[in-house]
Amino acid sequence: MPESSTPRIYLDNAATSWPKPAAVYDAVDDYNRNLGVAVGRGAYRQAGEVQGIVDRCRKHAADLLGAESWDRIVFTFNGTDSLNLALHGLVNAGDHVVTSDIEHNSVLRPLRELSRRLGVETTFVSADRTGLIDPTTVRDALRPNTKLVAITHASNVTGTIQPIAEIAAIAREAGVLCLVDAAQSAGHLPIDLKNLPVDLLACPGHKGLLGPLGTGLLYVRPGVEQQLQSVRQGGTGSNSEDDRQPDLLPDKYESGNHNAPGLCGLEAALAWIQERGVESIRAHERELTSRLLDGLARIEQLTIHGPCDAEKQVGVVSVTIPGFEPQVLASILDESFGIQTRAGLHCAPGAHRALRTFEAGGTVRLSVGPFTTANEIDAAVTGLAELAGAV
Ligand SMILES: Cc1ncc(COP(=O)(O)O)c(C=O)c1O
Repeated sequence: MPESSTPRIYLDNAATSWPKPAAVYDAVDDYNRNLGVAVGRGAYRQAGEVQGIVDRCRKHAADLLGAESWDRIVFTFNGTDSLNLALHGLVNAGDHVVTSDIEHNSVLRPLRELSRRLGVETTFVSADRTGLIDPTTVRDALRPNTKLVAITHASNVTGTIQPIAEIAAIAREAGVLCLVDAAQSAGHLPIDLKNLPVDLLACPGHKGLLGPLGTGLLYVRPGVEQQLQSVRQGGTGSNSEDDRQPDLLPDKYESGNHNAPGLCGLEAALAWIQERGVESIRAHERELTSRLLDGLARIEQLTIHGPCDAEKQVGVVSVTIPGFEPQVLASILDESFGIQTRAGLHCAPGAHRALRTFEAGGTVRLSVGPFTTANEIDAAVTGLAELAGAV
């Protein structure tokens, strides 16, 4: 462990964001101390207050993403939960899915399970060495029975921003649904679903959206609910006389009690993001990413994996230093400098195969957030330079 006086330099925002805006901690605390009730279940004062907060949370999320209305936002418990709902709810026996080889396991494993259980076939298009997917490869992979194109907006290994507008347009033109995994882009990049032919967009609430762990959401384009089955059924606080799952959104997909403290925190986080503006967060993170890339590029022994261009990536940067196993490098960075990163395969083994970093145990990933400072970036560069020089 580093000395307790060593400042904590948190560069693992791609795993979960920290710190959060102060209003998030206050909202969770206020819920726990003063509200403490289930959402959508009671008629007393605190129940009404919590319902109001959750309604506002949905509205903020819809506004932030450019969704048609608040009821297109389904709350889930994390990004994985959103992706499981989309994939298991939509894909049936006889369907074909197109995805890429750099996806997160929360896309790859549900697809594998669908293949095992239902014989669903998947085509994996390949990314290039910078983690970029060529939209024409998606077009070439489509078949008459393709139901879905599932693609990540930004790689959680290289940060590479994918041409999702082009990919979604190809899917739309072919009459195929398009699911975007926005785990590394929501809150980091402007997203406007009004101008994006995306049918489903999945993201955690706890990464770029700056809410607490245990929150997530799935956007469902109007009409898609006719094909998207619920994967969990149960109490919704609505239509209780009926033993069938309600058809109404969002209740159709939100059985069981909500993570109410989490949603109160997420509401405060989304309000903070709207106040600050996603464009302004993007500008801050782009500047820090550029500073990081410039600093790292001067370290001769170090390799940066990815586009190496802050315009083409979110604030996620993967590096290796020959002679250092990624896990060892990450431990030393924390122990010696208090620099907290994430080492390994990042739940995206295919991305590491594409980068040729799989065999060596992956990379060390540094990821920034809205509260990261230029001084922290400089400290990370200095620490890595010192270690690289020591090899
Ligand atoms: C690209 C990508 N997709 C999905 C997920 C899963 O999100 P969660 O951890 O909220 O389940 C992650 C998380 O790391 C991710 O980076």
